[in-house]
Amino acid sequence: MQTGTQALLPRHIAVIMDGNGRWAAARGLPRSAGHQAGIEPVRTIIGQCRRQGVAALTLFAFSSENWRRPPEEVGHLMDLFLDALAVELPNLQQNRVRMHFIGDRQSLGAALCQRMAEAESSTAANDGLQLQIAVSYGGRSDIVLAARALAAACQRGELEPAAIDEARFAAAVSLAGLPEPDLFIRTGGEQRLSNFLLWNLAYTELYFTDVLWPDFDAPAFERALQHYASRQRRFGLTAEQQAPK
Ligand code: FPP
Repeated sequence: MQTGTQALLPRHIAVIMDGNGRWAAARGLPRSAGHQAGIEPVRTIIGQCRRQGVAALTLFAFSSENWRRPPEEVGHLMDLFLDALAVELPNLQQNRVRMHFIGDRQSLGAALCQRMAEAESSTAANDGLQLQIAVSYGGRSDIVLAARALAAACQRGELEPAAIDEARFAAAVSLAGLPEPDLFIRTGGEQRLSNFLLWNLAYTELYFTDVLWPDFDAPAFERALQHYASRQRRFGLTAEQQAPK
């Protein structure tokens, strides 16, 4: 756990990429054009994280609630993920990015699942930025599935209920093994978590910006990093307890 002001660069950043639809509407374009335009900032942010030495980046691409959107938009998003994965993989590979997907894969099509699995296996040995993409992901479901896995381990006699502590629980959620996100960024002006990483965001610094995701460029990302660097993280301690002795 990083405390105080000494940690100026987040090790792990989690992002809700919001505002694609409004970006498109403002230009008289279909929502799908906004999602398409949302690919470029994904590229930019991955590059920035890599260059600055951020260890992990987790992007919310599609929530478990997004299935309720019009079928045409959902279909477009799934096609976009499928295409973007094929197009971006060589570049990610070249930059030693390690990819991992979180969320309910059973709800996704076979072709997308296969491409996701290929992206994971072909980048598994990379030692650069750890990139997590949340697709059909919900934070409450993540917690429920972890609880279920731990209960099943108890039922098999492999685990004592009393041995379930926060560390054990953290090892059962989707982002197990990664440092907790230090910085959460949400674009698009809304100030809520929308069921993203509910377990992991307990002590994360929250940064909200009105910038719509397709406009979120390198300077906008830099402003988020500067906001983070200016925060004093106390994790329940007093400022005096954290002052350098
Ligand atoms: C939310 O904006 C955005 C999404 C539901 C899709 C996000 C997907 C991308 C940016 C493409 C990324 C691709 C990869 C491979 C990671 P919204 O539609 O809710 O916008 P609105 O609030 O303005 O309507």
